Amino acid sequence: MIIRETTPGDMAQIMALYPQAFPEEDLTQLVTRLLACDAQLLSLAGFQGDTLMAHLLFSFGDTQPGLQRGALLGPLAVAPPQQKQGRGSQLVRAGLDQLAAIGIAQVFVLGDPAYYRRFEFMPERDVMPPCPVPDAWADAWQSLVLAQQAPLQAGTLSLPAPWMDPALWGP
Ligand SMILES: CC(C)(COP(=O)(O)OP(=O)(O)OC[C@H]1O[C@@H](n2cnc3c(N)ncnc32)[C@H](O)[C@@H]1OP(=O)(O)O)[C@@H](O)C(=O)NCCC(=O)NCCS
Repeated sequence: MIIRETTPGDMAQIMALYPQAFPEEDLTQLVTRLLACDAQLLSLAGFQGDTLMAHLLFSFGDTQPGLQRGALLGPLAVAPPQQKQGRGSQLVRAGLDQLAAIGIAQVFVLGDPAYYRRFEFMPERDVMPPCPVPDAWADAWQSLVLAQQAPLQAGTLSLPAPWMDPALWGP
């Protein structure tokens, strides 16, 4: 699988991937709005030939402007026939390497700890998600401090505007 940053020409395949990977959740609006806004993002995709296998977004944010920058990992989608073959992991690791290279200090995720602990994500208690999440999701909020970096100051993670609308991603 070849991993590269996405371009506008990949949009049709990205929009086709999300309903397959998330049949019970519509994340296409969130992804469209994130990719359309001027926000600082890293949008990575894995291809085999010209075919999109997996897509991952990181949105940059902080708890205090001017201090360390963080990034939110998500959403992450692997085409169902391609799942459980290491593609999601490959994309996450490539993304974490790129974020480390540009000085991102800490990466956050709201996801299944059983999956994210393989990348050494740990439960996060000092930095809060941009919108309240149900108590049942408390363990899903995790973070990873990248090498040579210090964690973000405690506070609420500020993220690009689409993340501030839980209707696009929330329960
Ligand atoms: C979750 C997802 C991104 C993982 O990508 P993948 O390429 O299938 O996973 P990998 O091959 O890298 O890793 C496989 C491992 O992850 C585990 N795994 C896969 N999906 C999982 C999930 N939703 N929760 C917990 N563990 C999961 C597998 O059991 C396997 O575990 P093992 O290594 O102990 O055998 C992918 O299955 C997917 O797109 N699922 C649907 C969308 C989704 O739930 N995304 C969640 C992120 S927002």
